[in-house]
Amino acid sequence: MSIDFKKAAVIGFPIAQSLSPFIHKHWMEAVGIDGDYTAIEVAPGEIAAFIEQAKLDGLSGFNVTVPHKTDIVPLLDKVAPLARQMGAVNTVKINEDSTLTGFNTDGLGLVAHLKNTVSDYPVDKPVLILGAGGAARAAALGLLTENIPMVMISNRTRAKAEVIANDIGRGRMTVVDWDNRADAVSASGLIINTTVLGMDGQARLELDLSAAAKDTVVYDIVYKPLETELLAKAKAQGLRTVDGLGMLVHQGAAAFKLWFGYDVGFDTVLRAKLEAKLS
Ligand code: ATR
Repeated sequence: MSIDFKKAAVIGFPIAQSLSPFIHKHWMEAVGIDGDYTAIEVAPGEIAAFIEQAKLDGLSGFNVTVPHKTDIVPLLDKVAPLARQMGAVNTVKINEDSTLTGFNTDGLGLVAHLKNTVSDYPVDKPVLILGAGGAARAAALGLLTENIPMVMISNRTRAKAEVIANDIGRGRMTVVDWDNRADAVSASGLIINTTVLGMDGQARLELDLSAAAKDTVVYDIVYKPLETELLAKAKAQGLRTVDGLGMLVHQGAAAFKLWFGYDVGFDTVLRAKLEAKLS
């Protein structure tokens, strides 16, 4: 192990299923970093102890996933503006002076993947976001930064969608009743599913796409399965689709840049490796 050995990690509870070690190790090898990225199970209430250990171990930083994204915020020395607006952190950088800065790269990852996959998505039309969890908030923030004219948000529990619209909408978000979500399809240039519906082991996502305009893009952040029923239906109708794998990879790439300074991305070798792992 050289003196320059770099370390990073992802913390969550549970964490065994995380693809992040696989992705970051691929990049470390690609850019020639001698290092390791590990998945560490940290139980609720043990984050502070983990942070102290991470400093002692000389980690460059770590990713944060469910259920710690919000709980970690008060334990950090600095929080970047986007993460502050999200109220959630998914990436922590451990600075030279051992202070910690929190970032949220989820929204940027989502938009980066969208642009890479469909560079000419309809920027002048409203977006329809399904769901109102952390991923929905990240998607809305990311897209509002991109000057999308209006974000419509629809969630089974309407109140949660209203909280997001009030927090970050600044007059550019409207709430659509879950039962009326299909009515919003025809006006939408982009439809994003951020709910768990359609994921292996979860219920189906019911959404009638028949009224969608020809240039509508359908984005599902679910990546298990990689081609969800929603995406298959959109494709069959001739619509362009974006799968959820890239959001995971691009938010990881943003973290990699923060820790190690290298621009990495979704190379074809990485996609092939991940598709093989998920199939
Ligand atoms: P994350 O923070 O990762 O985005 P989450 O907070 O667990 O995930 O959110 C899951 C989303 O899936 C929520 O929008 C949830 O709707 P509720 O807010 O009403 O719970 C949605 N969801 C889960 N099961 C659902 C179901 N059976 N029907 C409709 N929406 C569902």
